[in-house]
Amino acid sequence: MKRKNSRVWRPFVLVNMAMSADGKIATANRAVSSFGSRRDHDHLLALRATADAVMAGARTVSAHPVDLGPGPARFRRLRQRRGLAEYNLRVIVSGRGRIPPDARVFQRRFSPVIVLVTSRATRAARQRLRAAGAHVKVCGRDAVNLRAALRWLRERWGVKRLVCEGGGELNDAMFRADLVDEVHLTVCPLVFGGRAAPTIADGVGARVLPGARAFRLKSARRVENELFLVYERDLTRAPRRRPAGPAQGTPLKRIR
Ligand SMILES: NC(=O)c1ccc[n+]([C@@H]2O[C@H](COP(=O)([O-])OP(=O)(O)OC[C@H]3O[C@@H](n4cnc5c(N)ncnc54)[C@H](OP(=O)(O)O)[C@@H]3O)[C@@H](O)[C@H]2O)c1
Repeated sequence: MKRKNSRVWRPFVLVNMAMSADGKIATANRAVSSFGSRRDHDHLLALRATADAVMAGARTVSAHPVDLGPGPARFRRLRQRRGLAEYNLRVIVSGRGRIPPDARVFQRRFSPVIVLVTSRATRAARQRLRAAGAHVKVCGRDAVNLRAALRWLRERWGVKRLVCEGGGELNDAMFRADLVDEVHLTVCPLVFGGRAAPTIADGVGARVLPGARAFRLKSARRVENELFLVYERDLTRAPRRRPAGPAQGTPLKRIR
């Protein structure tokens, strides 16, 4: 029998984001989706090629033509050599389930798209998502219960390793639920500025310092003008009420 707080109850989760030197993930109009170098884009695909599933928030997949897929054949071959499915699962978090049915993520039908919604998503919204080809899972009332959702993804879909690619609101919910094991950041040589420009973790955040999630720097690499940083969860500085340890998985030893 599985223990409630066993180390394998959920996928190993890594957040991967590109940010400006001032910590922004897009400009204030939120229209900039890709500002990293070609190398950063390859890094994103290389990370996806280690994971069973890629996850993003509703605004990210609604506003940008992203398919959350594995990319070119060489990355798909890499996945297969590692014993992963050729195409990763795609997971979208959307409390209200209002994602345009013509979003790129639904147009590309190479792997299942799972939309995690709350009971705030109307029957019509769920029906529209199903008609667009999505699997819809209701997980919570006001907000998606991300702990329950990750447990379900592990149990129902066999997701052992998941890359979360933002945006800021989804990341914040993941950090607050203490579900992030690693953070991969590409620091790009730009300054966006602006209070309204989104950051790695927006949303509610920690109200006081003891509520902050602590990480340790695991690796840092400079390639031309970009910095590739990897942080891992520092469990020695976990908040007191933290219920479970990190999930078992296969964290990368260093950036490829
Ligand atoms: N630089 C990068 O690496 C990078 C990567 C990705 C995105 N971005 C940028 O980030 C921006 C988008 O970020 P964002 O913070 O505005 O939006 P987001 O996190 O992509 O999506 C927010 C939406 O996700 C849903 N959501 C998130 N957490 C939830 C929870 N716990 N329960 C229920 N629903 C939840 C809600 O959908 P409902 O409204 O349906 O409730 C919410 O409105 C864009 O500008 C994009 O360009 C940058």
